[in-house]
Amino acid sequence: MGKMWAGRFAKELDRVADDFNSSIHFDSRMYRQDIKGSVSHAQMLAKQGIISEDDCRLVIEGLEGILADLDSGKLSIDYGAEDIHMFVEEVLTKRIGDVGKKLHTARSRNDQVAVDIRLYLRDEALEITALVKELIGAVLFKSEENKDTICPGYTHLQRAQPISFAHHLLSYAMMLIRDVGRIEDAVKRMNVCPLGSCALAGTTYDTDRGYTAAALGFDGYTLNSIDGVSDRDFCLELMSAFSIMMMHLSRFSEEIIFWSSWECKFIELDDSYTTGSSIMPQKKNPDMAELVRGKTGRVYGNLMALLTTLKGLPLAYNKDMQEDKEAVFDSIDTVKMCLRVFAPMVRTMRVLTDNMYAAAGKGFINATDLADYLVKKGLPFRTAYKLVGQSVAYCIENGKVLDELSLEELRAFSPMFEEDVYGEISLESCVSKRISKGGTGKESVEAQIAYVKEFLK
Ligand code: ARG
Repeated sequence: MGKMWAGRFAKELDRVADDFNSSIHFDSRMYRQDIKGSVSHAQMLAKQGIISEDDCRLVIEGLEGILADLDSGKLSIDYGAEDIHMFVEEVLTKRIGDVGKKLHTARSRNDQVAVDIRLYLRDEALEITALVKELIGAVLFKSEENKDTICPGYTHLQRAQPISFAHHLLSYAMMLIRDVGRIEDAVKRMNVCPLGSCALAGTTYDTDRGYTAAALGFDGYTLNSIDGVSDRDFCLELMSAFSIMMMHLSRFSEEIIFWSSWECKFIELDDSYTTGSSIMPQKKNPDMAELVRGKTGRVYGNLMALLTTLKGLPLAYNKDMQEDKEAVFDSIDTVKMCLRVFAPMVRTMRVLTDNMYAAAGKGFINATDLADYLVKKGLPFRTAYKLVGQSVAYCIENGKVLDELSLEELRAFSPMFEEDVYGEISLESCVSKRISKGGTGKESVEAQIAYVKEFLK
């Protein structure tokens, strides 16, 4: 296809350079948004008397025909075109004749692409928040199932204090709720229309930017035309939100991998979310979780790539900015794939409560509670802490855990120990006594469940 801008040139673009320059193999995915933006632009031009109503009708019918034909597959993308904007305009002109050439009045591809990508990202962000909510729903489901499941809570990957497994899972629900918030915040700032900025300086036509902004569902229009066409901070914000969310998914993955290891065996992943080995018949590998952990790297990488692309660019538009799309599109695709597999993986995992309970029973996980017991009897915390430390050392020497010490043995450390100590340091009581707001106690777990449910409503 001859170039729309060929008038100024004596020679055609070199073929390799032409391929290099073209973005259609990745920006064609924005054809719906491109057409939507053009329809609103044409309506605005007619309303302002810049084109006639008749021309506007022809343009819109033409655009709608192209949309329908692309959707149905009747029209296929010409990958020889320079980009999606040129492609649509060329097809339009081929179909409706010279009237099609009026569409680009008071517009540049610079504001066109800026509006297309915002529309596209807005749609995708909505889909992604729905997927995150689905994952939060799966976490909630597992939490409700495991309100009374006791497992070890860790610090430094050392058994620290017993917690309810629901409490552990709900911490991820809280993180994911903030992830949704970050995506929504990014969309709020993104939802400002750059259309009408034109190439960089605005236009001499009497356009109505408020009209196109409202027609396209934006909250307003950009107040500086250079900013409107030059910045891609909204892509970066979204990609940052995705990166933080992937960091959460990656940590969750790491735990799922750890929990399903033979060293731990707290959970068993459903067969439909595990794979076998080509050589070791006994293997059941948590590949999905590992891939999510692995793909986190590329989502970070995309963010870094675009940050780096933009950092030295003078204002206003530069072709470097065409690089925004592959980065942000890849992050979108990756995040969606990860979420789609993660939610059902969590929902279907089998929690091996006995193993969790047994692990919580070892490792002096109730030592803090033993110290708290003495504090309640009147000892200062540091004194109690030291005495319990000594009793732990005694246990290690004698191959016992704290619950197995006789009252006599305990009294050797402090005469304050009485028969009621055993009830106080049982795993159940260690968990249920943690009544502080936000703790692992039952009331707090119930409150968290209610909060997550309310969020999902
Ligand atoms: N394909 C281009 C992009 O994605 C569209 C904008 C082109 N503008 C220009 N002046 N060359 O950035």
